[in-house]
Parts: sequence; structure tokens; C-alpha cells
Amino acid sequence: MQRTDPPKSAPKKVLIKTWGCQMNVYDSTRMKDALEQDGYAPTTDMADADLVLLNTCHIREKAAEKVYSNLGQIRALKEERAGSDRPLTIGVTGCVAQAEGEEIITRERAVDLVVGPQTYHRLPDIVARARTDGPQVATDYDVDDKFEHMPRPTKRQVQARGVTAFLTVQEGCDKFCTFCVVPYTRGAEVSRPLTQIVDEARELVDAGVREITLLGQNVNAWHGVGPEGGEMRLGDLLHALAEIEGIARLRYVTSHPKDMDASLIDAHRDLNVLMPYLHLPVQAGSDTVLKRMNRSHTAAEYLDIIERIREARPDIAISGDMIVGFPGETEADFEATLEIVRRTNYAQCYSFKYSMRPGTPGAEMPDQVAEEVKSERLARLQALLNEQQVAFNQGCVGKTIDILLEKPGRRDGQLIGRSPWLQSVVVDASLGHIGDMVRVEITEAGANSLLAKAA
Ligand code: SAH
Ligand code: SF4
Ligand code: F3S
Repeated sequence: MQRTDPPKSAPKKVLIKTWGCQMNVYDSTRMKDALEQDGYAPTTDMADADLVLLNTCHIREKAAEKVYSNLGQIRALKEERAGSDRPLTIGVTGCVAQAEGEEIITRERAVDLVVGPQTYHRLPDIVARARTDGPQVATDYDVDDKFEHMPRPTKRQVQARGVTAFLTVQEGCDKFCTFCVVPYTRGAEVSRPLTQIVDEARELVDAGVREITLLGQNVNAWHGVGPEGGEMRLGDLLHALAEIEGIARLRYVTSHPKDMDASLIDAHRDLNVLMPYLHLPVQAGSDTVLKRMNRSHTAAEYLDIIERIREARPDIAISGDMIVGFPGETEADFEATLEIVRRTNYAQCYSFKYSMRPGTPGAEMPDQVAEEVKSERLARLQALLNEQQVAFNQGCVGKTIDILLEKPGRRDGQLIGRSPWLQSVVVDASLGHIGDMVRVEITEAGANSLLAKAA
């Protein structure tokens, strides 16, 4: 059921705050689209909202705690509005909703609904019921395919997003790394079917999107059935999407080393529209730590993948994630992390202090590392990663490359585009050029962005 005209009475307004990974960003967009089609108008002003949804992340303790500090502030607003003709409805969605469920309402009574990621197709219904019948909690793993049951975004909704878009192709995780909550908050690995993905990609491109980033907690575990009944892997899916007329760029994130198969590596060699960028987290460089993390690969196997992908696509930028201070990590283990970073030579890499997550095996392990040790190791790791990132950016100076212009820059007359390697590039250009792919020469490099002039 799709409704494009909002109802005639003044629309209720919804504000969605989003934390966490790109999958949450994608989900927030789909929830906003669905609510809009149900009569809500989006707002960015909390005081103007009838419905506030916090789309949350549970990955580290700090991320999860942010929800409660936010809820405290929103509660005050709800109390002010109680009894008025515009009561405020508050919802928690995302991975904290899934992990904590009903507990959220026990801890913060102002919350009216708690909805886990696998139940978003029922959101408009649940909101309506929360408004009439009181608090609602929906955290079942529905057998229904939520994306199949969510309203498709209208062309206007896609156009409002801009020239780049996310598209979730795979959800959940069966890997059970011992530090990670994702298998518990997002459930088992599920791939969306080929036709659903291709149809959605076509609609995005028809509405003006030039670059699509395929998303999954383990995006390279995606598998599907081809038109002739054969098994397809992510490399094959990228080939299928590259055929869509008008698509300029494809990316995918996040990959697991174990699922880095030959079809995907070859796709980097064979497809021009597939950008030379690979986010391939390794987490640690010591084999004993990798084993305790249940990563199911060694440091040498990781480096071998990096070598093979660089052979296939010599200019590829490698990005990753690292955790320091996993239980039992010794100074020698940490040295091995520095070593794998030196050998990989990252264009960019995220790094985190290990955060103990309730319910994961890591939280029960002996030899938890002291906070000061974690901080000190993180600082050393980040100094090295920062050096590598600056060197990568400096290496771009003087190169002539194509950038996709995405949005206005900070100053009038400037636009920000993305390089093939995902760096932000600032260039002089007028607003009418957003969406254009332009050839530029990189003139200067900073730690986080590049400057360029028309080539
Ligand atoms: N599926 C991806 C990562 C998902 S979570 C993968 O397998 O690599 C994103 C990143 O958060 C992880 O790569 C990891 O570096 C970090 N992370 C996950 N759990 C963490 C924890 N308990 N403490 C610190 N960092 C964590
Ligand atoms: Fe978490 Fe590991 Fe799954 Fe990535 S592969 S989501 S780190 S359990
Ligand atoms: Fe966070 Fe959930 Fe993504 S825990 S990182 S929002 S999958």
C-alpha cells in the first residue's frame, strides 16, 4: 500500500535521531519514509515534534548509555506537553531496543514504544497503538521480510536524499566474535533477494542517485539465487548492479575476511564502477587474540587477502577497524597489532578500546585489561594510523581524479565531493553541479579532506 498524498489535516511531526552504523542510517531513512506515507511530516526541531524516535546503537557501552541521557532530556519536554492537545510520543528503536526490550520502559517510564530492527515494517501501526493503548514493546524476530513489507520510498523521497544512497542487502551476523553484540541485536545472517535489491537500486538511480553503497553487517556474506537458478555471491551482485544504466559508482561495507572470496576480489579488477576502496576490519594482529576473539582467521591470512586485493586493484584504499585491550591482550599482542597496521598500510582505520558488553563471551573472560593500559595503547595505535592516513592523503596531491559532487561546502561557491577512495574533496563549483562527476586535480591534503581545482 503506497500513499503519496499526505492527509488534509495538519500533519503530525516526527523527529528521528540516529546513532551507530550505516545500517541504522538506512533504517532511519526507511522509517521516516514509512511514517511520512502514514501522514507524518519530518522535522529537525524537537520542540515541534509529536513523535521522537531514538534509533540506537549497542556496540559499545558509551553508545548505549547515550540513549538514557537523551531520554532524560526528552522526558522534560513530554512532561511539559502532558494534557495539552499535542502530547509527545517517545520511541526507542535499533540495537538497544532489541537488546534491552521492556527494561527500557522500566528504566525510563516516558518511553511509549520499543521496537527492534526486525519489526520496523509494523512501526506506523505500533506508533498508533502506543498513542491509544499505552506502551508497546516489539522485539520479536519476525518471520516476515521487513523490507518487503515496508512501503517503497516515493521518487520525491529519494530525490530529497541526494545523489548518494545506502541500500541494505544483508542483515545480521552468524560469526559471533566474542566481543560483539551484533549477532544478538540483529539476529542471524539474512540476505535480501536479488530482484528486491535490483528493483530498489533501479528506483534509486531513476530518482537521480549516482552512487549506491551496499550495506550489511557482513555484506560479503551476501548470497542469492541468479536468474538461471545458480548461486550468486556479492561479486556477482555487483556485476548485476553495474549493468543498471546511469549508475556511476558502487561501494559496499562492511566485509569480513572469511567471506572475501575470489568473485569479490575479481570484481575489483573487472568493474570500473566499483570504487577502489575496501573496509576490511581485522580487529587485532596477534593470532592468540584473534583466536580468543573467534575471528576465525589468522594475521597471515588477513595479510594474504590484502596482497591479493592489491594485485587485483593496485590503487585500492584499505580501511579497517581495530580493538585494543581485548581480555588477555599482552604488550607483545599489542605490538602485533601495530605490526599488522604497518604491513597493511591503511588509508583510514577506526580504532576502539575494548568495551565489555553484557551477554557476550568476552565479558566473562579473565584478565580484563585496565582502562589506563587501554588508553595508552589506543593513543599509540592512533598515532600510527594517523600517520598512515596523512601519508595516504598526501600521496593524492598532484593526481587528477574524478569526484562526485555531493553537497555545498562551508563557503559559498564551494562544493564537496568524494574521491574514489572516499575522501572529502573541496572544489570551487556552483550549486547546480551537485550530482556531477567532475575531473579535478588535487592541490592540497589535510588529515581529513583534500582541496582540488578543476582539471
Ligand atoms: N561486522 C563488522 C563490524 C561491526 S561492529 C566486522 O565484522 O568487522 C563495528 C566495529 O565496532 C567492529 O569492527 C569493532 O572494531 C568494533 N566493536 C565491536 N564490538 C566492540 C566492543 N565490544 N568493544 C569495542 N569495539 C567494538
Ligand atoms: Fe560483530 Fe564479528 Fe559479526 Fe562483525 S563479524 S558483526 S564483529 S560478531
Ligand atoms: Fe550499533 Fe547495531 Fe550498527 S549495535 S553498530 S547500530 S548493528
